[in-house]
Amino acid sequence: MTSLFDPLKLGDISLANRVVMAPLTRSRAVDGLKPGPMTVEYYRQRAGAGLIISEATQISPMGQGYIGTPGIYSEEQVAAWREVTDAVHAAGGKIVLQLWHVGRISHSSLLPDGAAPVSSTNRRANAKTFTAAGYTDVSTPRALRDDELPALVADYRHAARNAIKAGFDGVEVHAANTYLLEQFLRDSINDRTGPYGGSIANRARLLIEVMQAVTKEIGGGRTGVRLSPMTTFNGTPLDSDPQATYNYVVEQLAPLGLAYLHVIEGETGGARQPEGAKLVFDYAALRSRFPGAFLINNGFDGAEAQSLIEAGKADAVAFGRLFISNPDLARRLRESKPLNALREEGMYGGGAEGYIDYPALTA
Ligand SMILES: Cc1cc2nc3c(=O)[nH]c(=O)nc-3n(C[C@H](O)[C@H](O)[C@H](O)COP(=O)(O)O)c2cc1C
Repeated sequence: MTSLFDPLKLGDISLANRVVMAPLTRSRAVDGLKPGPMTVEYYRQRAGAGLIISEATQISPMGQGYIGTPGIYSEEQVAAWREVTDAVHAAGGKIVLQLWHVGRISHSSLLPDGAAPVSSTNRRANAKTFTAAGYTDVSTPRALRDDELPALVADYRHAARNAIKAGFDGVEVHAANTYLLEQFLRDSINDRTGPYGGSIANRARLLIEVMQAVTKEIGGGRTGVRLSPMTTFNGTPLDSDPQATYNYVVEQLAPLGLAYLHVIEGETGGARQPEGAKLVFDYAALRSRFPGAFLINNGFDGAEAQSLIEAGKADAVAFGRLFISNPDLARRLRESKPLNALREEGMYGGGAEGYIDYPALTA
């Protein structure tokens, strides 16, 4: 029987175990929006994960939505990320970079020349973000013109190339949590006409083009993708038919030879099946359409993760909050050791506290 602690081949990436660190924004980028020395230490401490998925990292200055998040578009950022990947590899770990464009979940004060955020729509999200002025309503976006989309796809491709230059083992395209790619995908947000609006195929077009461009650049075996069909985060309603929409997306992704599909089950950071919710999403339907490895996330503990792997329901399990407070989570789960409790302080932004001061086991 397969265990959570068995090795796994994720496309071209070989993992020592199936305990994956989920992507976690920690808002500690230093000057030039690059990872600093504390971030190198933070990821080094967590190299015992079978795979680290980095915090979401913007592909371009227009892709930023929160203060202090890092980018992967400048040479300076590539050099700074190289310090992180070298540290993780020296400690025996594997790490991929999560490629991010926030779309309309942003504020003009974070964007070049105070620009409006861009999206599939010009309707504002009922959401807030962190800016220099604190917790602020997001700005009203500008709907991208169809003729601007090739440059956007090129930004993803350039960012993927930079990630490999920076020594990452691969990338994960962030198509979850209601950011740009999901703003095109869902009919609850996308109000376009033309080739990128209307039918499921049209709404999925941008994501598929991004995945084609990224895999062409760095190879499918080094590329994963994250989806969250049932998340209403950032004041974003569900698609009118999530099952049909996401089944279609996965069918289109299947021929690209991706390393993995990473699915958030239910509401990100909340219930996997909200009480009283009428819609029961069939995640196995996504898995059955996808030939690569299947990663699952959201509120799992070690025992639940182990039973999912044993039952063959997933190939690996991603843990978010448990990895914030337990740098050596894989070892603690394997040896059934107690877990450190999570503190709220230092979750987003700040210094070493709540970031690199959670203790590992000493013996
Ligand atoms: C502090 C924090 C930051 C997060 N940042 C990201 C992110 O950058 N990208 C992403 O896809 N999800 C992000 N998430 C969601 C987590 O990856 C994960 O889906 C969520 O925490 C549920 O998993 P868990 O119950 O194991 O923590 C974040 C969650 C938290 C708590």
